[in-house]
Amino acid sequence: TNPHAFEVTVSAPVNIAVVKYWGKRDTSLLLPTNSSLSLTLSQDDLRSTTTVRADPSFERDRLWLNGKEEDVTKNKRMVNVVRELRALRQRMEQDDASLEKLSAQKLHVCSQNNFPTAAGLASSASGFAALTFGIAHAIGVADKVSRSDLSRLARLGSGSACRSLFGGFVAWEMGSRPDGVDSVAVQVADESHWPDMEALVLVASDARKDTPSTAGMQLTVETSELLQERIRQVPQRMQDMKQAIANKDYDAFAELTMMDSNQFHAVCLDTFPPITYLNDVSRAVIHLITAYNALFTGDGRSGRGKKGYRAAYTFDAGPNAVLYILKEHVPEVLALVNRFFPPPEGEGERKEYFGRAANFMG
Ligand code: PMV
Repeated sequence: TNPHAFEVTVSAPVNIAVVKYWGKRDTSLLLPTNSSLSLTLSQDDLRSTTTVRADPSFERDRLWLNGKEEDVTKNKRMVNVVRELRALRQRMEQDDASLEKLSAQKLHVCSQNNFPTAAGLASSASGFAALTFGIAHAIGVADKVSRSDLSRLARLGSGSACRSLFGGFVAWEMGSRPDGVDSVAVQVADESHWPDMEALVLVASDARKDTPSTAGMQLTVETSELLQERIRQVPQRMQDMKQAIANKDYDAFAELTMMDSNQFHAVCLDTFPPITYLNDVSRAVIHLITAYNALFTGDGRSGRGKKGYRAAYTFDAGPNAVLYILKEHVPEVLALVNRFFPPPEGEGERKEYFGRAANFMG
């Protein structure tokens, strides 16, 4: 039972929530104040790739992020994830003496994003999902526990990471237990369920965000009364969103998505001092999509329950928009974006758009 060297490379895509997670009830276990729901994006353009090597000759754990070595002991979240994965393996080794002692092996971990890190493009979600999955493979637990169990461990790295362990439409159920064992991701519908659903990612800025989500959401928890109202509303919204997805009801999906994004950013503004993730470009996108939808939903006045939506915007902790659009309308929306946000001189029209709700992991 001498451990042998083992190397594995995995990749995980980002997920973009349509019911947002914002606020922790437990800051060390990363337990949320509300459930959330996201789509995992399938395209290769927004992924984290992690290589993990376990080797008996290694003397300590080491970590490289985007080519730069980091002090792994300073990355508390990462330390927690690795400790829990090793503890899991250790219990297995205690139960079955024939198992290799992989829990004692030191690891070298190398993780790379192919898109800007910490710019509100959910880099921590794909990053910790890939990291958890890769390490789970390297120490021999990946095929011994369920994906939801792994999602619980990814959650300890970054809350939203738990949702990137599945493809398609994924809920993170907040759970009620203080130890967090029921705060896990579950697949609501797989990637083949709604093949016409596309995500278009509009990068307004790839600069690192000013307020990291961890600091921002705790300030919101401490100061925003509006958050309490949001917490009251989310269970119904989760139910409505699951229904919309089950029925492939784009109108309901679009309306709920935009309202949830608006409410999340309202809660940010209600934080004191206020947090502003949206910029002028983001607001211009909101107005453009609102005006565009109004051409098809009737009179353009206020009101819910309209039919005919063409595009749904959503924004995370940054200015970049993600538009969820049905495939048939993508060319028109792309033309609209190119017309109102012309690409810089010398760059051609944006022809690319990013794939549909997604398959997970290569
Ligand atoms: O998991 P974190 O700490 O990166 O927080 C993510 C929060 C949002 O992206 C704004 C919303 C969400 O549910 O993904």
